[in-house]
Amino acid sequence: MTSATAIAHPNIALIKYWGKADETLSLPATGSLSMTLDVFPTRTTVTVGEGAAVGEGAAVGEGAAVGEDAAAGTGAAESADRDTLQLNGRPATEGELARVTKFLDLVREFAGDTRPAAVVSENTVPTGAGLASSASGFAALATAAAAAYGLDLDTRDLSRLARRGSGSASRSIPGGVAIWHAGDDAASFSETVAAPPLAMVIATVDAGEKPISSREAMRRTIATSPFFPAWIPSTAASLELMVAACAAGDFTRIGELTESNALRMHAVIQGSEPPIRYLTAASTRVFDVVAGMRAHGLEAYSTADAGPNVVVLTRPEDAAAVAATLSAEAGIAEPVIALPGPGAYLVGA
Ligand code: DP6
Repeated sequence: MTSATAIAHPNIALIKYWGKADETLSLPATGSLSMTLDVFPTRTTVTVGEGAAVGEGAAVGEGAAVGEDAAAGTGAAESADRDTLQLNGRPATEGELARVTKFLDLVREFAGDTRPAAVVSENTVPTGAGLASSASGFAALATAAAAAYGLDLDTRDLSRLARRGSGSASRSIPGGVAIWHAGDDAASFSETVAAPPLAMVIATVDAGEKPISSREAMRRTIATSPFFPAWIPSTAASLELMVAACAAGDFTRIGELTESNALRMHAVIQGSEPPIRYLTAASTRVFDVVAGMRAHGLEAYSTADAGPNVVVLTRPEDAAAVAATLSAEAGIAEPVIALPGPGAYLVGA
């Protein structure tokens, strides 16, 4: 029985990933670029071992429930052949477990190992903060599972592996500002790029569930949005400009490209049939307040993922003023300031 624990952080894209070129390999239609945050880590332990793995999982936290879940419908004899998953102290749903098992099957295939694993994951992203936990979740799972199954992967190959769990997870493997390259399986990895000092302020406007998952929404966008064909070259061009702006340390250009790419992503999404609209009046209000900050010489730029919450990009020295203005003028209860965070890493077992 082998066990490994890893920690990974969420990332927010400045140039967005929206749409896959290949669903099976999780290859993106375009490259993207993000900042990994230093807040809200996910900590995941993977324990590999027949039978014992199930017992191990069951022994942590709400053990009995996990044990029951593993045995449910399959009979105790078979339960040892099945992965178990505990999320934030509760047994995972069948859907959550199926996604993790599919990912672990890939790791097992690479490792030539058929044993099941017990996975215990603690995710500190506040529910509904609007930050996808799939990025930090699959980055931590890939790092812990690779180690537990004895795969010795470098950052590039770990980011390729994490990509298979959730595309954006690829970017949470390297630290800081990361580019995720489009390309074939071998070429589609993430790596850190040089960038000037950046900060993000997370403005949660709505803690509710998303109306439709990003995975499903991407499919609908590709199938029905007449703007999708234009999104691909537009994003590829913006990514090139963004890489140049990062290398030049041009914060203003980085900010302008960030806001325009986010709005273009929401435009292409809104063009789907039936339409999908993630931004609400409250989100738009934040975009307006941020534009107002710029008009008053406080440089800040908005972005938003597949949900109504807005993340504001600014310089580290301006982050406290941006947070205070978001509270005062956009009614944001508790803006969270984040700086560039570390890549995924293993912690002492
Ligand atoms: C809007 O990485 O969650 O946050 O690959 O299907 O798991 P899957 O999608 P996911 O999509 C993230 C979309 C986004 C933009 C981004 O992070 O680049």
